[in-house]
Amino acid sequence: MTIRPRRSALYMPASNVRAIEKARSLPCDVVVFDLEDAVAPEAKAEARANAVAAVRAGGFGDRELVIRVNAFGTPWAEDDLAAAATSGADAILAPKVGDAETVLRYHRAIAAAPATTGFWAMVETTRAIFRLEAIAEAMAARPAGGAFVLGTNDLAKEMGARLTVERTPFLGMMAMAVAAAKGHGLAILDGVYNAFDDEAGLVRQCSEARGYGFDGKTLIHPRQIEPANRAFGPDAAEIAWARAAVEGFAAPENAGKGAISVGGEMVERLHLDQARAILAMADDRPS
Ligand code: COA
Ligand code: MG
Repeated sequence: MTIRPRRSALYMPASNVRAIEKARSLPCDVVVFDLEDAVAPEAKAEARANAVAAVRAGGFGDRELVIRVNAFGTPWAEDDLAAAATSGADAILAPKVGDAETVLRYHRAIAAAPATTGFWAMVETTRAIFRLEAIAEAMAARPAGGAFVLGTNDLAKEMGARLTVERTPFLGMMAMAVAAAKGHGLAILDGVYNAFDDEAGLVRQCSEARGYGFDGKTLIHPRQIEPANRAFGPDAAEIAWARAAVEGFAAPENAGKGAISVGGEMVERLHLDQARAILAMADDRPS
């Protein structure tokens, strides 16, 4: 079983060639070349060229390569989408997606992209929050699969909400976004934590996001990669549970049973998929 780990997704302004070069050896699962908010208007064209050149040049190993384009309605969207579609990137990430119609418009704009290029959407507007299910359903139409990426900075700005480490105003939306994504087979990545020197705060957010069902966290600094990898990768207790569950159901005396006892807890056949996914993740990335 192949499980694509997306524990850590590092953004970098695509105008920053040094950051792009560094990303080739950083231990993140996903590299996001940003053409949008992290790039000043006068650097947009250069950033676009850098991102495409980096994807074409390769050298990123197993890392998934994603280009975040500028949104429809900006002067750069069409050029960004045309360039990203033919770059060979693993996915194109669109900002401020607010409804299903916009997803379909993006799908049409990247029609020239290979079927292996996925379409990812930022969930970062209040409009999107009330349309999560329809957006996820529209996204699932693209065969390469998709992902939601939470944009908590933009949501906080629009709502006038305070973005603390606890994120109390956003917890309900996070749960709804996970349900919409997972209900349609999409991955979902948590928003960034701006205080990149505060490891304890980052670990707290990662651990909570993992509890909600997020697959990983978007990051802004290399320092945040290892904590995210640890938090979203399976820990020793989960691996032990998964082994026991798989072995338990494989035992002849349990053949035909729907529920068994593992270490004093009920494990049902529906947990087997989860157990196998944990073991696949553990095998892929031993560290
Ligand atoms: N990706 C790759 N490398 C990065 C990086 C990133 N996002 N952020 C920092 N680095 C590198 C720096 O180039 C530097 O490398 P060097 O010492 O070999 O030259 C090293 O990591 C340490 O960087 P540091 O000096 O601590 O940070 P900084 O002050 O240069 O940059 C930020 C701080 C926040 C401006 C920078 O981390 C950044 O641009 N982050 C991404 C922002 C972004 O893309 N936002 C959009 C989505 S929210
Ligand atoms: Mg944003």
